[in-house]
Amino acid sequence: MRRPIIAGNWKMNKTPSEAAQLVKDLIPLVKDADIDVVVCPPYTALYTVAELVKGTNIKLGAQNVHFEKSGAFTGEVSIDMLKELGVEYIIIGHSERRQYFNETDETVNKKAKVILENGLTPIICVGESLDQREKGVTNDFVSMQTKLALNGIAGEDVKKVVIAYEPIWAIGTGKTATSKEANDTIEAIRNAVKDVYGEEVSEAMRIQYGGSMNPKNATELMAQKEIDGGLIGGASLKAEDFSKVVLY
Ligand code: 13P
Repeated sequence: MRRPIIAGNWKMNKTPSEAAQLVKDLIPLVKDADIDVVVCPPYTALYTVAELVKGTNIKLGAQNVHFEKSGAFTGEVSIDMLKELGVEYIIIGHSERRQYFNETDETVNKKAKVILENGLTPIICVGESLDQREKGVTNDFVSMQTKLALNGIAGEDVKKVVIAYEPIWAIGTGKTATSKEANDTIEAIRNAVKDVYGEEVSEAMRIQYGGSMNPKNATELMAQKEIDGGLIGGASLKAEDFSKVVLY
């Protein structure tokens, strides 16, 4: 049985004081959740949120990391910096980073390796555009993104990876993939992993759905066989909404 994982991606929202308020409101609401609950604040709020979630069942995630250990990379943040703060999960390859900040399959792969070598968990985002879905190449495209992200990573490590399937056309649009569409694509991703690593690995790996997931649709999405969790944007910015998704 795969343990469900619901993560909030706060994107570029919340100052440190706003982040503190959100997580203070959230702690009592999700304290009884028997799943992995993760919040991913912006870098500038990580320290504040790290202090507040100590001793609770909420885990800390970051929204990106650089793949080099240290050095002359102005504006970037390293794995050691995140580790020292108590970060356990790191989102990489989000479609917004691929679209606006030059994230490529190659950098995603380098980042995944660094994260795993350091004992942390990458949440690797994959997902097709509307054009790709309409042309019928969704499964091929997300399978390729997944294989390239995992290239050169050993099966034992792949078991620890979390993949977030986020159709680009469903992000922040209020349009959700139907539970069947989401389940079918996630099944295709799992099969792609099975092709390379075998069934033991593919069955262990957790795959989330992301894209306008909210308190109204979480129950149905989470009931699907292949869906192991959610990566939540907009609905993670309000404690009550996020807690309802967590308690789906
Ligand atoms: P929304 O939930 O706002 O659609 O965002 C999804 C997402 O991109 C999470 O990473």
